[in-house]
Amino acid sequence: MKKTIVLTLLLAAFASCSDSDTVQDIETPPTPNPPDPTTAITYTKNVKSIIDANCIGCHQSGRSAAFRPLTTYAQVKAAVESAGLLTRIQLQNGEQGLMPQGGRMSQANIDLIVKWNTDGLKEN
Ligand code: HEC
Repeated sequence: MKKTIVLTLLLAAFASCSDSDTVQDIETPPTPNPPDPTTAITYTKNVKSIIDANCIGCHQSGRSAAFRPLTTYAQVKAAVESAGLLTRIQLQNGEQGLMPQGGRMSQANIDLIVKWNTDGLKEN
């Protein structure tokens, strides 16, 4: 009887461990090109696809945020350096000024863009 209880507890513990490995934020798409921690984040390899998927629907000519286009390396770099891009993407849902306006990106995307800045805003 005792053995059964111990075994049951072990199984439950194991099941909850493996569950937590598979927990994902299903609201946001997975990070394209997951970063290799040994190399620097670059615009071309890692950042552009995130900006294209989440920002340029508004941040390009003819759209609601055309005044601040984010379609090239130079434009995105400038937005980080002088338009508060990093602050905007790290605001919480519901906070004034959050980008994208519709809701915070996955933490993985946010972390990647923050690390891009830490790594020196490299293009390639
Ligand atoms: C639904 C449209 C929309 C989307 C999507 C969107 N933005 Fe914006 N963004 C705006 C508008 C409109 C403004 C101007 C109003 C304001 O400052 O909040 C703005 C302002 C900004 C600013 C401040 C610009 C300045 O010069 O003051 C930054 C930086 C920014 N957005 C970055 C982003 C980033 C990065 C993304 C994607 C992760 C994004 N935005 C997605 C509409 C959008």
